[in-house]
Amino acid sequence: MVDKNSNLVLRSGHTIKNRFGKSAMSENMATNFLPKENFVNAYSAWANGGVGLCITGNVMIDRDHLGEFNNVVLDDQVKDLTLFSKWAQAGKANDTTLVMQLNHPGKQTPKFLTNVPVAPSAISFPPPMSSMFNTPRELTEDEIVDIVKKFATASILAKEAGFDGVQIHGAHGYLVSQFLSGKHNQRSDRWGGSLENRMRFLMEIYKEIRKAVGVKFIVGVKLNSADFQKGGFTEEESMEVVKTLDKLGMDFIEISGGTYEVSAMMGKEIKKDKSKKESTQKREAYFINYARKINEFIETPLMVTGGFRTSETIKEALGSGHVDIVGMGRPYTVYPDLANRFIKDEGFVLEIAPKKTGIKILDAAIPLEITWYTQQIHRLGKKKSPRPNRNVWLSLVETIFELGTQGLKRTRG
Ligand SMILES: Cc1cc2nc3c(=O)[nH]c(=O)nc-3n(C[C@H](O)[C@H](O)[C@H](O)COP(=O)(O)O)c2cc1C
Repeated sequence: MVDKNSNLVLRSGHTIKNRFGKSAMSENMATNFLPKENFVNAYSAWANGGVGLCITGNVMIDRDHLGEFNNVVLDDQVKDLTLFSKWAQAGKANDTTLVMQLNHPGKQTPKFLTNVPVAPSAISFPPPMSSMFNTPRELTEDEIVDIVKKFATASILAKEAGFDGVQIHGAHGYLVSQFLSGKHNQRSDRWGGSLENRMRFLMEIYKEIRKAVGVKFIVGVKLNSADFQKGGFTEEESMEVVKTLDKLGMDFIEISGGTYEVSAMMGKEIKKDKSKKESTQKREAYFINYARKINEFIETPLMVTGGFRTSETIKEALGSGHVDIVGMGRPYTVYPDLANRFIKDEGFVLEIAPKKTGIKILDAAIPLEITWYTQQIHRLGKKKSPRPNRNVWLSLVETIFELGTQGLKRTRG
């Protein structure tokens, strides 16, 4: 029986002080791609709130390929790491393990940011997503190798800045996830076709990073348990990828699920979609179940993220021995001291209502489950207290006011 307050020692030798993980949440508040004082403030709040493993929002590895307008970028054009070091120092306070998530959006980059996105294959998203994302062009072999190197460059810089490790974003439909998917990757060279070929991009990124940063730096990955799409990355394939990563010596693997097209990671769309088969619904509802199935085959610690809200579920997950770190996202924006609350108070009840206006057309158009929480992160960035009971309409007005109509399209999960 794993106690929520017990240490976890990773292969790199790092000790995570407890079993609580803050999953990556894009802060969307960089200034000219840089993490200013607002990052120091938000990450101080999380570090002092007791979380064991804190994963940053996705940091882009190439300024020409952003997921959002206000992303942090860490690429070879960054010559001064001072701001990154301040960020790292703040996030590592109170013995917190701080890991930077690295990402390349591939074709999942809004129209207004990228005219011609890149992807494994020149396949556009179907409607309604096609209205937000341009049709990509297929990456060349040289470009693929170059992107692999960019992940390593960002990792070297993250290490120099003082971060404890990096996490490759391999989930939610971004570039790595596009390569893994048989639907989005229809290449006929060594990067596509068989699962072995489709996972090559991720494996090469991992190997290149490891070669660059050595064995004492944490390298993890966030992976989908499945894409929940016809022809997409399946649970069986996901488990094969996990086994391969395990053999390569990954430090931790975080399990999530879904993509922009079917946002299972936010826990709502699959349940709502009555046309989906029961088996698909079960997979979505049981990321823990995925961990149970895979854990006996691997030694790599598993972080499972998505939907954890009660002491009981957390206890059950850790007690089962199949989950090593309980990952949570949205709750940390309103309770930066969430880990301390769960550790100190067995009866702590997390009350977070779904973020919606109740007007179907508005809720379909505006991702309040993202923007409402992003605004809470921005409050932390300004050293203001979060507002757990903030009215969704106020949040909506703020979203429109701050970002304008295009801003509604530039948010993500
Ligand atoms: C505002 C916001 C931003 C997010 N940004 C990222 C991100 O940058 N990278 C990522 O892997 N997941 C991102 N996510 C997804 C979360 O990491 C997590 O998988 C999801 O919120 C489900 O966990 P939860 O139910 O505990 O919130 C984001 C979620 C939110 C709400």
